[in-house]
Amino acid sequence: MPNNCYISFFLFIPLLLSLQPKSYAQSTKQSDGEHQILLGLKKHWGRSSPALSRWNSTSAAHCNWGGVTCTNGAVTGISLANQFFVKPIPPSLCLLKDLTSLDLSYNNFSTSFPITLYNCSKLNYLDLSNNLFVGKLPDDINSLSLQIEHLNLSTNRFWGRIPPSIGLLPRLKSLLLDTNGFDGSYPAEGISNLSNLKVLTLAFNPLIPAPVPEGFGKLTHLIYLWLDNMNIIGEIPENLSNLSDLQLLSLAGNKIQGTIPNWIWQLKKLRYLYLYDNNFTGAIADNITALDLAEIDLSSNKLTGTIPGDFGKLTNLTFLFLYANEVCGSIPLNIGLLPNLKDIRLFNNNLSGSLPPELGKHSLLVNFEIANNNFSGELPEGLCSNRELLDIVVFNNSLSGKLPESLDGCNKF
Ligand SMILES: *[C@@H]1O[C@H](CO)[C@@H](O)[C@H](O)[C@H]1NC(C)=O
Ligand SMILES: *[C@@H]1O[C@H](CO)[C@@H](O)[C@H](O)[C@H]1NC(C)=O
Ligand SMILES: *[C@@H]1O[C@H](CO)[C@@H](O)[C@H](O)[C@H]1NC(C)=O
Ligand SMILES: *[C@@H]1O[C@H](CO)[C@@H](O)[C@H](O)[C@H]1NC(C)=O
Ligand SMILES: *[C@@H]1O[C@H](CO)[C@@H](O)[C@H](O)[C@H]1NC(C)=O
Ligand SMILES: *[C@@H]1O[C@H](CO)[C@@H](O)[C@H](O)[C@H]1NC(C)=O
Ligand SMILES: *[C@@H]1O[C@H](CO)[C@@H](O)[C@H](O)[C@H]1NC(C)=O
Ligand SMILES: *[C@@H]1O[C@H](CO)[C@@H](O)[C@H](O)[C@H]1NC(C)=O
Ligand SMILES: *[C@@H]1O[C@H](CO)[C@@H](O)[C@H](O)[C@H]1NC(C)=O
Ligand SMILES: *[C@@H]1O[C@H](CO)[C@@H](O)[C@H](O)[C@H]1NC(C)=O
Ligand SMILES: *[C@@H]1O[C@H](CO)[C@@H](O)[C@H](O)[C@H]1NC(C)=O
Ligand SMILES: *[C@@H]1O[C@H](CO)[C@@H](O)[C@H](O)[C@H]1NC(C)=O
Repeated sequence: MPNNCYISFFLFIPLLLSLQPKSYAQSTKQSDGEHQILLGLKKHWGRSSPALSRWNSTSAAHCNWGGVTCTNGAVTGISLANQFFVKPIPPSLCLLKDLTSLDLSYNNFSTSFPITLYNCSKLNYLDLSNNLFVGKLPDDINSLSLQIEHLNLSTNRFWGRIPPSIGLLPRLKSLLLDTNGFDGSYPAEGISNLSNLKVLTLAFNPLIPAPVPEGFGKLTHLIYLWLDNMNIIGEIPENLSNLSDLQLLSLAGNKIQGTIPNWIWQLKKLRYLYLYDNNFTGAIADNITALDLAEIDLSSNKLTGTIPGDFGKLTNLTFLFLYANEVCGSIPLNIGLLPNLKDIRLFNNNLSGSLPPELGKHSLLVNFEIANNNFSGELPEGLCSNRELLDIVVFNNSLSGKLPESLDGCNKF
């Protein structure tokens, strides 16, 4: 037996070498080349970088260097967020020809969009967010790798219009353009064609006033739609009712009018709904099947009608903000029973009636603000016991009787 093994071992080695000599030599060569490219990057950026100070030529295995990922010995990922890089992205980066993932977020790049990345032909993930990039996005931004699935340009200083060619990157799953200075139009039709999108953010840009594009209703894989503070006007189009995977819908800080459509309350996966600071009118539908809702903020609109009793079904609800509207009626009793509720803000409305006594026994509630309404009766007994930091703001109501003794534990206003 040992003899046999010995023999086959020696037979096998030359066989392996004769089968793969070329690719072996090639990958060694690529590896040596990539080692040099990475040392070049270190020389270019290294001075102030915490991660690159640990890259050095004596430790040969660059695949183990911080921020470097390899697949089969070739560099496929560079992840160097928070490195204080200032010098522009050098063309040599794309000599890493298998590079698929590049994260340079939270640095200090201040050039225009780095078109040198057009040469990274396998790029799938690009995060340039949280830098100081400036200027217009290039009209031929679709010259980026057609493999690209994640493009994060959030929180920079880009301005001008968003180029229509962004709609020609068909594999995009995430497109984050929020928190920039884009001040022209955006290619609603092109973006509506990006049918793989799961994450879309255009929030916090001084865009030309326009309604939510009907075409966004075609983006049925969207999970996260963040369109705050981008000068939206008009009503929410019915077309969005097809976005049944949405978990976050945020349209705050715009000038949207009309009623809050009933179908919003039927988006089964919705968890976060932020519609505050708009011009919504009418009543909130009392027909809620979006039972995963965890955060609802409809504050600072012109909503009327009553608080839907169906809010009492939302067992995941942690905060409910309806302040600064014209809502009337009383607080539905079962809201006091919601197990996860931490923060209720209903001030500046026209609410009345007595407060649900269950709120007093609620163990998670840390903020309760109902000032400037017309509540009557007494504050629920027990409101402040067993809790730290309960803020309770109740002035300008018709509450009667003495304040419960338990309020001694509260921060009262
Ligand atoms: C090079 O890296 C190795 C392993 O990370 C480390 O032990 C060594 O001290 C480094 N040398 C220099 C000169 O930084
Ligand atoms: C990076 O930018 C921040 C904010 O603009 C600044 O405070 C910091 O000094 C910059 N760092 C470098 C290394 O340029
Ligand atoms: C891409 O690489 C080629 C060859 O290295 C070079 O000539 C060209 O200028 C590069 N393109 C960009 C946009 O950097
Ligand atoms: C940028 O977007 C990508 C894709 O959605 C995401 O994975 C990444 O965490 C984002 N970057 C930051 C700094 O949030
Ligand atoms: C969107 O896709 C449709 C159908 O594929 C195509 O006719 C149209 O030209 C595309 N629009 C844009 C702006 O890319
Ligand atoms: C939006 O919905 C309306 C009515 O359902 C429909 O006529 C219209 O074609 C839709 N728009 C788009 C861009 O799909
Ligand atoms: C929702 O999608 C279906 C199927 O694609 C389509 O027939 C319907 O018109 C869409 N509804 C709206 C309001 O756009
Ligand atoms: C809000 O809507 C009302 C009528 O619905 C309109 O008169 C008012 O101008 C709108 N306000 C804003 C800020 O859009
Ligand atoms: C509630 O919404 C569902 C689904 O849209 C609808 O079928 C039902 O008629 C509505 N019920 C009431 C009472 O409005
Ligand atoms: C509430 O949240 C939990 C955990 O996040 C989740 O599993 C559950 O499906 C959610 N929905 C309801 C109605 O409780
Ligand atoms: C407030 O509600 C009362 C009845 O509850 C109603 O008479 C009054 O008109 C309402 N005020 C406003 C400003 O809506
Ligand atoms: C407040 O409610 C009382 C009855 O509880 C009513 O008499 C009074 O008119 C209400 N005040 C306002 C401003 O709506």
